[in-house]
Amino acid sequence: MPLILRRTIAMKPSFIRLPMRPALLPAAGLASLALAVLVAASRAPSSNPVERGRYLVQYGGCADCHTPRTLGPQGPVPDTSRWLAGHPEDLELPPPPKLKPGPWFAVTAGLTAWAGPWGVSYAANLTPDVNTGLGIWTEAMFLEAMRTGRHMGTGRDILPPMPWQGLAQLTDEDLRAIFAYLRSLPPVRNRVPDPLGPDTLPLYE
Ligand code: HEC
Repeated sequence: MPLILRRTIAMKPSFIRLPMRPALLPAAGLASLALAVLVAASRAPSSNPVERGRYLVQYGGCADCHTPRTLGPQGPVPDTSRWLAGHPEDLELPPPPKLKPGPWFAVTAGLTAWAGPWGVSYAANLTPDVNTGLGIWTEAMFLEAMRTGRHMGTGRDILPPMPWQGLAQLTDEDLRAIFAYLRSLPPVRNRVPDPLGPDTLPLYE
């Protein structure tokens, strides 16, 4: 803060209310507009689709569920060598806890496997690995899946807690950017288990 301003505030507490005075409003408005434009410009995502996709994926918290965690000194941290590779195939899990009817459900500490009234769902491998990730997906499939909540755009329902309903609100351009970013990731071979039904038997064969 400029010294003179600081001193004015210290000496005249009423100064704080000054921007409310009509004569000063336009100036204050312009200043905050200029600031808003500056902030927006410094954070504006690039027009490059991969960069825009990275920005949206970060904001969308996709890695919270789709990236496995390792235990660091400060607690669990995302395993960057398996970025967005989904529930780890090598993680041996005991059967999910038996849940009484009610609002609770269970999740693994890595947030990649979720048990609830729908059964058990495992976060998908979003890397472009051909056999275990989104490698064979087309952009059209991705858009359709995110818009309709159907697996690969035409199959079974996508299970909770995958927040596809929010992604469905994005523009085609933004969804394409997310797909372009996912395509740019290093492929990680990791076969995520198929979901289980409420009786913990395979839901779909
Ligand atoms: C709260 C946890 C969570 C978050 C956050 C999340 N996902 Fe998912 N996602 C899941 C789970 C669990 C599945 C597996 C659902 C199933 O098997 O039906 C999944 C499945 C998917 C699939 C596969 C869908 C299909 O057709 O089989 C895609 C693609 C996907 N997520 C993309 C994303 C993207 C992109 C983001 C970020 C914008 C994201 N997810 C955020 C939990 C999450």
